[in-house]
Amino acid sequence: MRLVHISDLHFGAVDPVLPEQLRAAILKVEADVLVVSGDLTQHGLSREFQEAKRFLDSLPLPQLVVPGNHDVPRWWVVWERFRRPWSRFRRLVQADLEPVWTQPGLFIVGTNSARVAGWHPDWSRGRLSHHQMARLVKLGMTAETSALRVLVVHHPPAAPPQGRRRHLIGRQREFSQAVNLAGVDLVLAGHFHVSYVQALPLSGGSQARDCVLSSVSTATSHRRKGEPNGFHVIEGDAQTLTVQAWGWDGADFVPGRQWRFHSDVERRHWQESQ
Ligand SMILES: [Fe+2]
Ligand SMILES: [Fe+2]
Repeated sequence: MRLVHISDLHFGAVDPVLPEQLRAAILKVEADVLVVSGDLTQHGLSREFQEAKRFLDSLPLPQLVVPGNHDVPRWWVVWERFRRPWSRFRRLVQADLEPVWTQPGLFIVGTNSARVAGWHPDWSRGRLSHHQMARLVKLGMTAETSALRVLVVHHPPAAPPQGRRRHLIGRQREFSQAVNLAGVDLVLAGHFHVSYVQALPLSGGSQARDCVLSSVSTATSHRRKGEPNGFHVIEGDAQTLTVQAWGWDGADFVPGRQWRFHSDVERRHWQESQ
């Protein structure tokens, strides 16, 4: 299988050169499926969702999309934010906030980690509810045993080696346990606008496990955090995974750093290959 992972498009704060270049680069890759891990828009405005949707519709391949913290009405439209937080996303992008995609050998579960508010001033923070985590575990159990199991979530569960600037996904212990029990091999995230790939230790199940975390930089936004715009291309199966980072060099999206991982026979641990 070959998958393209993009995130944090942020229509409304887009570098105008990039969407068309990104589109051409994605088509060149000839992937089976495109995963979008949230923050389609900058302010959750209707016209931003429409632009994002037009862009996604111009890509003729199966897609799995989840929302991010920017995809709810911003705090200055507080009434709508609390009353109908997901109405624009549902109406203008897709009705399902947590889609599932399967094909032989591949099982992808989308989750919505964005929250309307919290008991803290930073409403960009995200987490999954206990109900969402229970759903993840239940879905994981329905996956075909030999399939690569992928979780898509906007907020990352581990910090980049470049240093953490924002909060990780909340309820870390419960999240780790749910990912472990669901048998997830690969977590796809965004939010930090930083490209990094690493083994992710999972605790909380009957046995400790590891999976792989792939987090991407912003695909099209000018809100770069010291990194070029980019995306990841992921190839492999339940035994081996290759993640290829593509980055914008000012003229084109070009392949850059690559990571390789392999799982053990019992598929409890994923390790970076030397
Ligand atoms: Fe973002
Ligand atoms: Fe975000």
